[in-house]
Amino acid sequence: MRKSFIVALLFAALSVSANAGGPENIIPKVASYEMGKGSYVLEKGATFAIVTSSTADQAFENYLAGSELALKKAPGKKADIIFKIGNPKSGKVSPESYDIVVGKKDITVKAPGIAGAFYAFQSIVQMYLAGPEIQACHIADAPHFGYRGLMFDNSRHFYGKDFILKQLDLMALLKMNRLHMHLTDNEGWRIALDCAPEMTAKGAFGESIFYNDMMSRRSLSFAATPKAYVSGTVYDDGKIYGGYFSKDDIREIIAYAADRQIVVIPEIELPGHNKALLAVHPEFFCDGEHKVDNVFCAGLEGPLEFFSKVLEEVMDLFPSDYIHIGGDEASKANWVLCSRCRELMAKEGLGSELELQSRIIRKMEKIINARGKHLIGWDEILEGGLSENATVMSWRGTGGGLKSIRMHHDVIMSPNTYYYLDYSQDAPWKEPVAFNTYLPLKAVYDYNPEDEIIRLCGADADPSLLNHLLGVQGNLWGECIKDPSHYEYMLYPRAFAVAETGWTPSDRKDYPSFRENALALSKYVASKGYKVFDLSSEYGQRPESLVKIPCLTGSAKATLRIAGSEKVDASIHIDGYLGGWSSKDENAWRRLRRKEVVLDVDLGSVMDIHYLGVEFLDYGPRHFRTPQDTEFFVSEDGVNYKPVSVPQTRLDPHRKTFLIVTVGATVCEKARFVRLRYNSGSYKVDSFLGEFIVN
Ligand code: ACM
Repeated sequence: MRKSFIVALLFAALSVSANAGGPENIIPKVASYEMGKGSYVLEKGATFAIVTSSTADQAFENYLAGSELALKKAPGKKADIIFKIGNPKSGKVSPESYDIVVGKKDITVKAPGIAGAFYAFQSIVQMYLAGPEIQACHIADAPHFGYRGLMFDNSRHFYGKDFILKQLDLMALLKMNRLHMHLTDNEGWRIALDCAPEMTAKGAFGESIFYNDMMSRRSLSFAATPKAYVSGTVYDDGKIYGGYFSKDDIREIIAYAADRQIVVIPEIELPGHNKALLAVHPEFFCDGEHKVDNVFCAGLEGPLEFFSKVLEEVMDLFPSDYIHIGGDEASKANWVLCSRCRELMAKEGLGSELELQSRIIRKMEKIINARGKHLIGWDEILEGGLSENATVMSWRGTGGGLKSIRMHHDVIMSPNTYYYLDYSQDAPWKEPVAFNTYLPLKAVYDYNPEDEIIRLCGADADPSLLNHLLGVQGNLWGECIKDPSHYEYMLYPRAFAVAETGWTPSDRKDYPSFRENALALSKYVASKGYKVFDLSSEYGQRPESLVKIPCLTGSAKATLRIAGSEKVDASIHIDGYLGGWSSKDENAWRRLRRKEVVLDVDLGSVMDIHYLGVEFLDYGPRHFRTPQDTEFFVSEDGVNYKPVSVPQTRLDPHRKTFLIVTVGATVCEKARFVRLRYNSGSYKVDSFLGEFIVN
């Protein structure tokens, strides 16, 4: 009898949980909740009522009607979901905060404004998706960060207006509130402006530029707008490819985003990443030799006048408080050789080309500040002196962000090490060609910018520094991604992780439960026609990198010399762990360029050696190649070295797939000292040196 009672209880518990959604099902995880007794069953077509002292928000009501729940407005104040909006008790309450009480009779939302009510509704939708019977609970929620963004690259490839609108729907469900549109770059100018009609007439179309093999990066060819082109759509007739947004397309995107509590931030790139500009305006080139073809002349007034007009028109169009001006990866090689740049530097007493760049950024900032708006730039704008009020978007790892925060500048963290969603999200051998190797969901999720800043600044750091951390942003660059569904595939579910870090305090984050929710949400998202990475079939990290291999180097010493330089410690190469998929893992892989590399290992005593091998990362699209002349030597005294014959690996020079290559062989030697030597190859080809295996 006792047994059957337990079974009955278990059955009852299962029958509730199978159909019941609750606060634990929500991405991003809510700040706090308490469970109640009972549940409330929501059905499609349920009713809503809004109680507010301010005027009704028609956009919000329309959104509720068009939502997953297809809510209907109740004639009176009784409804399935009652929104009580307005009048926060204190001015300190975040306008994005909300309370939900799920009771037996209804669901009541309290929010200080529409934003909070909107986010409460997203939480209700996610609980409903987990099961229409929603467990009684009280949720009190508010975002950890005010800035929770995604960046879409519209230039490298163009995905069109409808694609953006579709992603805004999902961003809203994830409570993300900033869409950063990268609108101009080398590969195409994607915004039609009255002040620069030539840029979309001549700089938005060209030969299809999909380069899944970036070894063959070539100069871009631009073409006039095809006659049949309709703005906001992707044009691709097999020869000519491209597209752009009209101002009406942009207005539609901005309005659609605003209805979803999302602000659209435009980025107009300068002074680098400007091949499209220079193809249309070659007069903006420097006057010396052109070492690079994507940076305009800093000694000319023309480009600055051009961008002043562009920014004014962009600011007329975008209500965003923030305007992004790029500022990244601008080579100074042409400026060094240009007489106009040199004259300007002499005239204005600028000590370096970095200051020349700062001069440009400061001029743009003046224009932006004059309109009461703020400039954002990539972290290179720190170089040469940062403009006074600029906000830094930190992308080169996390260092730039930390440096700016210490300088009391506002920062948005979008480090390539955690938030570059164009990196492969699983074992590279099973994934499409990606810009870089391995950034799985867990790595994205585990990044906690605030914790890192506290750790790096030390316990005695000024706590107000953290106020400068505005939030987080995932970036998806499009060089390797032509197909919009491939773009979505790279976004989801990793964007879920960025959203949760943006909203949820780090001490509430928990990867196992997030992963469960991500699996469920991925299923829903896929059912809505999004292409999503299949998390359920995730392969994960290279298994061989997770366990220590047998080796003789346990107490050995290893040093590395590059082109005859000082010896540096090379213990990471003999620690007994093979490298994993990520080239960014500095404990496993060392990037070495165009130099003779000598790795010396002292085993401490003479030993019998039966195997010598070394691992290299090899990935053509990113110019990582296996050296073709790897040599091994052994020595008993550290003076007289004897070569050991090991066959070289010959690979197709045009290969595009990701490989971890082992160059090695069984040997029969006695030695205390072992040496590896190679030359890492020709111009623009790097080696990624991994584990040196001595056995
Ligand atoms: C960047 O990835 N160059 C911002």
